Amino acid sequence: MSTTEQRVAIVTGGARGIGAATAVRLAAEGRAVAVLDLDESACADVVEKITAAGGRALAVGCDVSDAEQVEAAVARVAGELGAPTVLVNNAGVLRDNLLFKMSDSDWDTVMNVHLRGAFLVSRACQKHMVDAGFGRIVNLSSSSALGNRGQANYAAAKAGLQGFTKTLAKELGKFGITANAVAPGFIVTEMTAATAARVGMDFEDFQKAAATQIPVQRVGRPEDIANAIAFFTGEEAGFVSGQVMYVAGGPLN
Ligand SMILES: NC(=O)c1ccc[n+]([C@@H]2O[C@H](COP(=O)([O-])OP(=O)(O)OC[C@H]3O[C@@H](n4cnc5c(N)ncnc54)[C@H](O)[C@@H]3O)[C@@H](O)[C@H]2O)c1
Repeated sequence: MSTTEQRVAIVTGGARGIGAATAVRLAAEGRAVAVLDLDESACADVVEKITAAGGRALAVGCDVSDAEQVEAAVARVAGELGAPTVLVNNAGVLRDNLLFKMSDSDWDTVMNVHLRGAFLVSRACQKHMVDAGFGRIVNLSSSSALGNRGQANYAAAKAGLQGFTKTLAKELGKFGITANAVAPGFIVTEMTAATAARVGMDFEDFQKAAATQIPVQRVGRPEDIANAIAFFTGEEAGFVSGQVMYVAGGPLN
């Protein structure tokens, strides 16, 4: 494949939040983008935004934790947009609780979406990347990978994604494929809005309180994360692999 051909990206969890901003940003960088989320119709707004700006995009309904759905979704993307060689494993859920109240299903759901999901979609895409001699994989970790009260499941999954990322970097580097992780701090999305609701705080007050703890004195926006992802997925980032970039408005610890 020549580098003048349009690269095809898959953004999981692309219907809203960080995934939506990333899909729009990658399209602006010239990628054709498969916006993949649980409900295909929920991806319509993002696809419309991309196509209205002159880009190519496809809405794909898929549960990333289901192997058959993932295989079918990646095959569909390859058939309708082209071989996916850029992958952003962004789909995520929270099931926060203190350890003694955390249910088996709270644990399994978070592991299945974040870890199994990233594994399944990466495995399905890697053959296309190997064939192309080019690939960019970015996994969404989190500042919670360093440990966060009430998030034993999520912290374990997000730390696990860092090990997964480094391993993919080692295994796939010889095929022109890089794998990196972006670990966001506090980003304003429906996920953090749900956390505010769970702890009984007004979302604006929750953001203000969070900002006081952040060196740059503001909370993050989805575009802050899309910007870091755009760097890792860029043609020129081929010598940067196996890295974890914290994007949190300052250092953590
Ligand atoms: N918002 C933050 O502060 C923050 C911080 C650190 C890391 N992250 C991570 O960034 C990613 C995006 O977070 P966000 O804040 O935009 O969340 P969000 O809840 O706004 O969006 C997540 C998207 O993932 C989709 N999704 C959930 N389960 C799925 C599944 N099984 N298959 C396909 N899609 C599925 C949802 O439908 C939703 O559209 C997540 O991995 C999250 O853990 C977010």
